Amino acid sequence: MSARTQVEALLTLIRESALKALDDYETHGKEAPTLDSLQKHPLDEAVNKLDFKKTIRKLEAACDQLCSTLAPPSHSIMKRSQDFGWACLRVAVKQRVADVLLKYPDGRHVQDLALEVNIQPMKLAAILKVLATRHCFREVTPDVFANNRLSLCLVSSHPMSAKIDTATYEGQLSAGVLSEYLVTPELGHSIAMNEAAFQYTKKGTPHEQSLFFDWLGLPEQEERRTQFGRSMIAVNEVLGALAPVHVYPWDQVKTICDVGGGIGHFSKALLQNTANTNVVLFDLPETIEVAKADWKSDFEGRVQFAGGSFLEEIPVKGCDVYYIRNVLHNWSDEKAVQILQTVRQAMGPNSHLLLHEAILRHSCKSEFSPMVGLDDAPEPLLANYGEGQINVYQLNMLMLMWFNTQERTPSQLNKIIETVGLRLIKVYDLAEMCLLELVLA
Ligand SMILES: C[S@@+](CC[C@H](N)C(=O)[O-])C[C@H]1O[C@@H](n2cnc3c(N)ncnc32)[C@H](O)[C@@H]1O
Repeated sequence: MSARTQVEALLTLIRESALKALDDYETHGKEAPTLDSLQKHPLDEAVNKLDFKKTIRKLEAACDQLCSTLAPPSHSIMKRSQDFGWACLRVAVKQRVADVLLKYPDGRHVQDLALEVNIQPMKLAAILKVLATRHCFREVTPDVFANNRLSLCLVSSHPMSAKIDTATYEGQLSAGVLSEYLVTPELGHSIAMNEAAFQYTKKGTPHEQSLFFDWLGLPEQEERRTQFGRSMIAVNEVLGALAPVHVYPWDQVKTICDVGGGIGHFSKALLQNTANTNVVLFDLPETIEVAKADWKSDFEGRVQFAGGSFLEEIPVKGCDVYYIRNVLHNWSDEKAVQILQTVRQAMGPNSHLLLHEAILRHSCKSEFSPMVGLDDAPEPLLANYGEGQINVYQLNMLMLMWFNTQERTPSQLNKIIETVGLRLIKVYDLAEMCLLELVLA
């Protein structure tokens, strides 16, 4: 395909997906808000946005590929190399700039704002100009800044502010040492979970060998722990982690075991949206105690709690469905096999296992994806939707830097599934994530 043909195809994709996105907003009650809007749109809060997510995936992929095709290469690369937006976001969140601007919907001059957020005015102006240039905050008149649709995500009550905090602290600390860590003898080649880039940032401290979650569990890390928990709410929202509630045929299902279900984010949503299901929430005993306190008497009679380790035994036998989300990516292949083996041992002959994980696709075409039913990106987009799915590749870097683990490609997941003696019968493409339906082989 020539560059002209590619560009014309990309422009068609952009036009089609942008118009479809506008329609999606209108179908949800109101026309699409402008970037300056401070009002939430019903679509922002909609529980089932899978179609919309897929439209935006195409739009982002096509816009980014179009610019990368036509802009001079060094121009594109220079922008990537000095993208300090993350540091600016961190400042804005830590100093609560968006919180302060809630009081000034028409904007606040940077000189006055600087006094309220305790940052030197010239420095604050530089930071806000980077952000506003990428549509987060609005420069109303020269040096007067106001909130806009994007900057409202930085307000401290928004879970995304916690995601910014963890990504730009635990994430960027690890990213900052990555190139040095990778060539450190032995450590750089280790795939041990306590020898990742994160531990390298702790070298010389008592925690240089602590697992990421053990470090997070230290009494003195209470604030980091809380932020991490809140950040997971934002990640689940962005990844559309409740999509299986809406795409899977639950009317055929009575009993579900939510394996490693945390305090029950998925289980609660499932019970809310289905009439005849009963859930057993299974997690480590200490997490189950937190879950019980959180659920109180909600859904009494439809939920049971079971504590234990999925590395040893799952005491809940013969459920119609075992559901396991966002678990395997925290574990090595060997441990992932062990976890699925204990699930397999709990399954009855007719049980189904639903494996819900982010999925890493190759950016080139591969034989596996059409076989398992993942939506293929239309030509000439990268096969993995490029920028449209960049969140997955960024999360994969966090897995790598914090745990020495990874999100997996379809073939990597398939290898684990086959080793355990399970058979894939259906794939639900949920954009960044996918739901694999498995039965005993
Ligand atoms: C990344 S969280 C995912 C939680 C939930 N499935 C979700 O998607 O929100 C991983 C979960 O695995 C649980 N976990 C870790 N080790 C475990 C073990 N050995 N046995 C059971 N659960 C475990 C953690 O307590 C945590 O709730």
